[in-house]
Amino acid sequence: MSPVVLAVFGFATLLVLVSVLVPVAKRLDVPFTVLLVLVGATLGFIAGEGDAQSAMGRYLVSPLGELGIPAEGFLYIFLPPLLFAGGLTVDVRRLVDDIALVMLLAIGAVLVCTATVGVVLSVVTGTDLLICLLLGAIVATTDTAAVLGIFRDIGAPSRLSVIVEGESLFNDAAAIALFVVLLGVLTRKEMPGVLSSVGAFTKEFVGGMVLGYAMAKIAGWLISHLRGVAVTEITISVAFAYLIFVLGQAYLGVSGIIAVVTAAMVFASDVRTRLSPGTWGPLLTTWKQLEFWATSLIFVLAAMLTPRMLGQLQWSDIAGIAAIFLSALAARAALLWGMLPVLSRFGLAQPMSGAYKLVLLWGSLRGAITVALALSVSETESISADARRFIFVMAMGYVLATLFIAAPTLHPLMKLLKLDKLTPEERRVRDRVMALSRGRVRENLAQAARALGIAEALPPNSGRVEGGRQDAWMSRDDLVRAGLIVLGNRETELSLEYLQRGLVGRHVAERVRADSARVQDGARQDGTVGYLAAALRNQDSTWRFRLAHWLQRRYGWTGLLAEEIANRFEFLLVEQMVLRELMRFVDANVAELIGPDAALIVKAALDGRMQSTNNAIEALDLQYTDFTRAMRGRYLDRLSLGLEEAEYRGQLDQSLISSEVFEDLDEDRRKRQAPLHTRPELDLGLKLTEMLSKVSLFAGLKGADIAKLGQMLTPKLFLPDERVLRTGDPGDRMYFIASGVVDVHIAPNSVRLGSGDFFGEIALLTDKPRNADVVSAGYTNLLVLRRRDFETLLRSNPGLRDAIEKAARQRSQQAT
Ligand code: CMP
Repeated sequence: MSPVVLAVFGFATLLVLVSVLVPVAKRLDVPFTVLLVLVGATLGFIAGEGDAQSAMGRYLVSPLGELGIPAEGFLYIFLPPLLFAGGLTVDVRRLVDDIALVMLLAIGAVLVCTATVGVVLSVVTGTDLLICLLLGAIVATTDTAAVLGIFRDIGAPSRLSVIVEGESLFNDAAAIALFVVLLGVLTRKEMPGVLSSVGAFTKEFVGGMVLGYAMAKIAGWLISHLRGVAVTEITISVAFAYLIFVLGQAYLGVSGIIAVVTAAMVFASDVRTRLSPGTWGPLLTTWKQLEFWATSLIFVLAAMLTPRMLGQLQWSDIAGIAAIFLSALAARAALLWGMLPVLSRFGLAQPMSGAYKLVLLWGSLRGAITVALALSVSETESISADARRFIFVMAMGYVLATLFIAAPTLHPLMKLLKLDKLTPEERRVRDRVMALSRGRVRENLAQAARALGIAEALPPNSGRVEGGRQDAWMSRDDLVRAGLIVLGNRETELSLEYLQRGLVGRHVAERVRADSARVQDGARQDGTVGYLAAALRNQDSTWRFRLAHWLQRRYGWTGLLAEEIANRFEFLLVEQMVLRELMRFVDANVAELIGPDAALIVKAALDGRMQSTNNAIEALDLQYTDFTRAMRGRYLDRLSLGLEEAEYRGQLDQSLISSEVFEDLDEDRRKRQAPLHTRPELDLGLKLTEMLSKVSLFAGLKGADIAKLGQMLTPKLFLPDERVLRTGDPGDRMYFIASGVVDVHIAPNSVRLGSGDFFGEIALLTDKPRNADVVSAGYTNLLVLRRRDFETLLRSNPGLRDAIEKAARQRSQQAT
């Protein structure tokens, strides 16, 4: 038989084998990867070498070896699916919250691990430092899937998972990037300086990110033009993952790994919403599938080399493997106990409990990526045979050690730390839900039985809850917490529902979803307080908003800020809808679950959120009336079109109309929907002439003077509660209010100034510090006049001067 036929036969048989192993691993309660390695090693022994080859080995196993997957094959075939699948499940919006910490952890972890392992190993085994460092980079990758699996199992707060997920992904990326740099040094045999290595590393990293981002955007654009065929959309994602990797790695000289990870994240956050409805699920399944194949094949293929490795094993190697094991542990411990607390001190990271840290330490299993890297080195011709053997034996030995020592003991460790069970609070929620739903089942059952006339035939106990369970005791705080968590889930659902109904754009939906995860985390950690604190934080300005605001204030650019304020309003409107819906949800569903007392508290928390949302909306309503009215109208239109569609669809489902009629109706509806995609224009009212006309003080000025004045004044927008002036500061400018209001805080009360008023003149006239705090009450448009211009203006306009001086005198008297 031809080698190809044999190889296909071999691969297919392997896949059957791995599939069978999944339930076996579950049954035996051992990690799947451990089983894979065992089976792989056994196969390796069966295959034998040379004369000792068994029949099975000859026909089944050795053809795979003969197929000779080249070194690069392991990287180019197996890495993209592993990385892309990992990146797809990251919650990007929330990752951005912690991006500094994640990057620090990831890059820090890799550098610390590589250096520690490299140096220790070199000392212990006396091998060349460069080779040991390369090994250090190889073993610095962690097994994302394993770590995450643990976290899912123990129900860690989702923020923690997001950090770990992000960390281990970027960790892989950083480690591989470092690996590539070191490998380059080894094969080219030239020593780069520290600076040029850092430069190369940065170029790989940043270049990879840019490439991944750009390519994912292109993929997104392509997908939105393919118009809704699931198979092609999924194909694009697979093809792009490989294309991006190859482009980065082989053509552009940037990190293909980082590019793929970045692209996957852009896919998950951005491209996802361009897919046709219902495609996301199948797409994820496809990637899970590819990831499964890649992981299992890598493990089996590598483990098949175990006999060869064992054959070459020497006593000194065992010492080396132990050295790697211990130094990698030490490096990670230094990070968890040394660096993390420092980060928490500076508010960059939330403190982590000792138990979690222990699990993270012991649970840092090494997996497919380490193996793939080791395999690729072992096939790299330009490295000496000795070094290749050393790297392969060490890396494989280390992976096996983590798999056979750390993995099986992880579960007992978690049991010991009591991390493997539902927390008592979660258990009580579970019991309560079970009791309630069983109660409902019983009622339905009784109804059905009555309808069927078999009431008597029902066993007396069917559907009943066992005694005791039903009254699972929960404190009110626990109930409130449970209620808030349920609300968080509903909020997430609502965001998707609104998106599907075309009520909101995908950015807003995404933001609502990320926000709901944050309030849920808050509730999980601190109950109502945490919930409300997170909700308040959610209303803080986004970094884009802050940037846009800064650009307006600094350079007078209004476009971006108008866009961001419009976004804010849109988001608040949706938030208001969501909160109303949640209120109803508490009454209809949650109250029953948590009891009336707790429900009251939950509603009070919701009310708190509602209030701050309403206030924020009110501030916008006051200043941008036309815009907010138009936006509300647009929402109503969208809502009605959504209802219309549901109506048509209902009629179609009931066969009241044919699909042709439906299409025709829907076409018409879509036509009316199209203009609703564009948002009404928001005019910030920051045009100079318009603003000047609002200040009555300038009414008497003539054309030429107005023009001169216009050159002296700069329009600036202030946000609600933003401080304009602080008591005691030196004064170098004064302000005219074109629109909006400010509060002048002069103890014990405050004075409100509105459109046409001015302030900040006293410090300029008297050369004394500011005598009051001035705070913008809403969105306020101010015209700013600098001291130099102030003096020029007063000199040339005695009338203006008198008016301002008079006001200053009066105000100063009031202040004293
Ligand atoms: P200045 O002292 O430069 O900074 C604070 C400003 O608050 C002050 O100028 C006045 O413009 C304003 N201010 C102080 N007291 C009053 C007041 N009683 N009524 C209105 N505005 C005031």
